[in-house]
Amino acid sequence: MATNRTFTMLKPDAVEKGHIGAILEKISASGFKIVAMKLTQMTKHDAQTFYAIHSERPFFGELVEYMTRGPIVAAILEKENAVDDFRTLIGATNPADAADGTIRKLFANSISENAIHGSDSDENAAIEGAFHFSGREIF
Ligand code: RTP
Ligand code: MG
Repeated sequence: MATNRTFTMLKPDAVEKGHIGAILEKISASGFKIVAMKLTQMTKHDAQTFYAIHSERPFFGELVEYMTRGPIVAAILEKENAVDDFRTLIGATNPADAADGTIRKLFANSISENAIHGSDSDENAAIEGAFHFSGREIF
């Protein structure tokens, strides 16, 4: 059964370019409630663990480098059908393929530096939220 929470990160490129406010505005306007949020920076070990599923992919080294080069905003979001609706809101992995009005279409430069993460399943949303937040930080 679908749960009502998902997990997101505003990635280093989005933070560097000063897009935190605009992206959070869009997330809120799309009906998502923020139940946990922080500015943080991933260590190399964090990024390797978080994206372990991609460890054999040719872009893995570049991905870890990118995700650790500056601060990110990590957040847990709540809405009915959160995982699927948020993936729709962020758009395709490659911004060239992302629908008009999606966050990646508006704020991402390339398939590698694509501004934002969204969990791809309820199971991963729970794992990823727990990776970044302890119980006391989640409302
Ligand atoms: P995410 O997990 O960050 O929400 O992205 P996604 O599901 O849309 O895409 P995924 O296949 O899980 O890839 C994770 C991240 O790796 C980088 N990537 N680079 N250079 C490339 O070909 C390539 N492919 C993927 C992107 O940052 C992507 O979001
Ligand atoms: Mg993914």
